[in-house]
Amino acid sequence: MKFEKNILCIGAGYVGGPTMAMIACKCPQYKITVVDIDKERIAQWNSDDLPIYEPGLDEIVKATRGRNLFFSTEIEKGIKESELIFVSVNTPTKMFGAGSGMAADLQYWEKTARQIRKFANSHKIIVEKSTLPVKTALAMERILALSENYINFDVLSNPEFLAEGTAIKDMEDPDRVLIGSRETENGIRARDKLVEIYANWVPRDRIITSNIWSSELSKLVANAFLAQRVSSINSITALCEKSGADVTEVAQAVGMDSRIGNNFLNTSVGFGGSCFKKDILNLVYLCRNYGLAEVANYWEGVVKINDYQKERFVLNMLGTMFNTLADKRICLFGFAFKANTGDTRESPAIFIAKRLVEEKAELVVSDPKALRNAKIDLKGIDRDVSYIENPYEAAAECHAIAVVTEWDLYRNLDFERIYSSMIKPAFIFDGRNILDHKGLFEIGFNVFPIGKPALTHF
Ligand code: UDX
Repeated sequence: MKFEKNILCIGAGYVGGPTMAMIACKCPQYKITVVDIDKERIAQWNSDDLPIYEPGLDEIVKATRGRNLFFSTEIEKGIKESELIFVSVNTPTKMFGAGSGMAADLQYWEKTARQIRKFANSHKIIVEKSTLPVKTALAMERILALSENYINFDVLSNPEFLAEGTAIKDMEDPDRVLIGSRETENGIRARDKLVEIYANWVPRDRIITSNIWSSELSKLVANAFLAQRVSSINSITALCEKSGADVTEVAQAVGMDSRIGNNFLNTSVGFGGSCFKKDILNLVYLCRNYGLAEVANYWEGVVKINDYQKERFVLNMLGTMFNTLADKRICLFGFAFKANTGDTRESPAIFIAKRLVEEKAELVVSDPKALRNAKIDLKGIDRDVSYIENPYEAAAECHAIAVVTEWDLYRNLDFERIYSSMIKPAFIFDGRNILDHKGLFEIGFNVFPIGKPALTHF
């Protein structure tokens, strides 16, 4: 079959894989190829056991793979035959040299730019899909401009707003698609080509365009605002615990103000995920670079409150359990950074697990999807850690349960059965406020929610 367009995506991760599967699904007239240097990852994408868990993803990959969606390691061939190239390689926080711990590590991004320059044999549109600091597109343009074979490139920014766990729904029915371009004739022509792709299923009024720097910055700012809401409500949990107010009641009263709205006001042990912390630290680094210390400090506060919240959770467990956790068995319900994903990047569970091990507790980690990643995250400190998927088996013989991820399955467990299998006094620390606290208390548990009065039998 002859395809209307060949599209390539470099990087087969959490963003590249699902995004390309969606485009392939909505646009059977295009041939979409996803390439990655990681052979094993590509083999997984070509197997029945996809490398990431995302509700609805299996179905669309099954429907499109081999039809107009292909996973491959042939980067050179992919670059040569495609007119539009999405770049979705990882840009972790840089852990060395200048900007260590804050700036984005752009080595994979730059290598990709050089590869494109080397192999391209005709005009290409490059679409920046990873989250990148502002002005990265400029660096890409500069590298590409040095092409020896006089090939022209247009670089666009098209940030990803999908959230894990709801990625397929978010892409199918996005709040907005944002495309940034140079405001030159060529830039606008390239931008229109990308608009045309999304217009296959997204209403035109939800496809917005801007200059390239606004587009890059919007992504950082959107994530900073979302994270700020979580840190704002989490900061109030500490005050509620001291004052006797109930954070759920406060969040409801605040969120019903239509100017504020009620999304992203769920208290937690802290936010996680690959984006929030990384993007805020990028924003902070950018502000510092421009000499905007006040702005940098303001946003850095969002990350600091998040660290405080995680530490507070551990200290609360320690204080409550008579100031010693040594040799106590503690079960973590959930390890993923949120429900409906197996992803554990920046999950508060990692911090909590490490701190509990430092306190010499014995850990049992339970999670329906994230145990494979949890084992990798805790490698080296897991002498006293066991991994048990079944929550009943995991909690047996434990002194305490800490709910870290808001999986639905934990809401509906038989807690009488769990209580009877635990060591007494039995404690529950509900780091997501998802359980029936009064019911648990009546069973016999000492219950410690976040941001509301504890229910104890002492
Ligand atoms: C986020 C953005 O939502 C998305 O637009 C962007 O593209 C990538 O980053 P994601 O990291 O998948 O997506 O997760 P999100 O649902 O935003 O949650 C982030 C963290 O905040 C999770 O750890 C979650 O548990 C926590 N959270 C979220 C809360 O603690 N309370 C809330 O009310 C909402």
